[in-house]
Amino acid sequence: MAVLLAGGAGYIGSHTAVELINSGYDVVVADNYSNSCPESIKRVEKITGKTIKTYEVDIRDSQAIEKIFVENDIDAVIHFAGLKAVGESVQKPVMYYRNNIDTTLSLLETMSKYNVKNIIFSSSATVYGEENPVPYFETMKRGVCTNPYGWTKAMMEQIFEDAAKADPELSVILLRYFNPIGAHESGMIGEDPHGIPNNLMPYVSQVAVGKRECLTIFGNDYPTADGTCTRDYIHVMDLAAGHVKAVDYIMNNNCVEIFNLGTGVPYSVTEIVQTFEKVNGIKVNHVYGARRDGDLAECYANADKAYEVLGWKTQRNLEDMCRDTWNWQKNNPEGYGR
Ligand code: NAD
Ligand code: WQD
Repeated sequence: MAVLLAGGAGYIGSHTAVELINSGYDVVVADNYSNSCPESIKRVEKITGKTIKTYEVDIRDSQAIEKIFVENDIDAVIHFAGLKAVGESVQKPVMYYRNNIDTTLSLLETMSKYNVKNIIFSSSATVYGEENPVPYFETMKRGVCTNPYGWTKAMMEQIFEDAAKADPELSVILLRYFNPIGAHESGMIGEDPHGIPNNLMPYVSQVAVGKRECLTIFGNDYPTADGTCTRDYIHVMDLAAGHVKAVDYIMNNNCVEIFNLGTGVPYSVTEIVQTFEKVNGIKVNHVYGARRDGDLAECYANADKAYEVLGWKTQRNLEDMCRDTWNWQKNNPEGYGR
């Protein structure tokens, strides 16, 4: 059975490719490398010992992606392809709407043409918005998003739901990721952000490796136990395993389902820094600074549904996440060197 990974050369796609191959699926990767490079897939091939068919293509280009559907017997698609930097989405909203929405429309149109009826989408906890109380349940309404990136995710969820309503044979799984961190245990693949990282964990590991001087912790006056924000950090390999369970499920069920993929356990920024230092025996210079615009004090999942329906739950703890992040960073101080 072949699964098309749109945006599969990226951070989450490459880790998911490993888990799918190890579970017996064939994968086909399509990516324009706007935020990745072919090296990640070469590393996945090394880890798995399998050759992966790849296409360098912009997913928005319906004509170009048709070739993939003609040349391969695709059973399901996982749609990772998107721009994801929250701050950049505020500066360049049109670029975000154009890229994220158009990739979705092209995939749905082409799937329809080639009678492919299963799609899994990389959504985000950000769609719960500001109003819903934690923990977040899948039954809650999508909230008011705080930035254009979040809105693209909310809009794409709506598009998938409408498409499935119009075509009852179309199965859709919306996976709402919480905060993915960590790397494959081998240290051969991991997160490789361009320029200054926006997200906490790559920033922490770049300070640890000496690429950045000091981490600023954004705010220590939040109404949380230690005053810093809490998040539901999830090991990227647990997240990847969640995708395998979603593929298993969608291949056997005509469905429209939403699943939170998180641990259900929040940790604060200070706890992340302290655990990283303890597990890896390395100092992370940090200072406390002002709050960052748009940050919520707390964000974490209720992850029961994914366990009850998919039989999935996380296996790795915060120490594993910190250890594996560092293993990747110290072995690849320049990432993939792109
Ligand atoms: P990533 O940037 O590493 O991967 C996305 C991939 O999509 C990249 O390889 C990029 O080159 C590719 N891509 C983007 N636009 C494309 C286009 N038009 N055509 C072809 N390829 C294109 O990001 P990631 O962290 O692996 O995230 C994967 C998905 O999960 C994204 O949709 C993201 O919004 C979503 N998500 C990520 C997080 C997170 O914290 N990493 C959290 C929630 C949701
Ligand atoms: C985590 C915590 C920061 C950097 C974002 C998106 C979300 C989802 C995941 C895609 C926060 C603090 C961070 C730093 C810090 N992505 N922090 N210093 O904001 O929870 O979620 O990525 O869907 O949509 O919004 O993740 O890693 O940026 O921040 O103190 O230099 O770390 O304030 O509390 P966030 P993050």
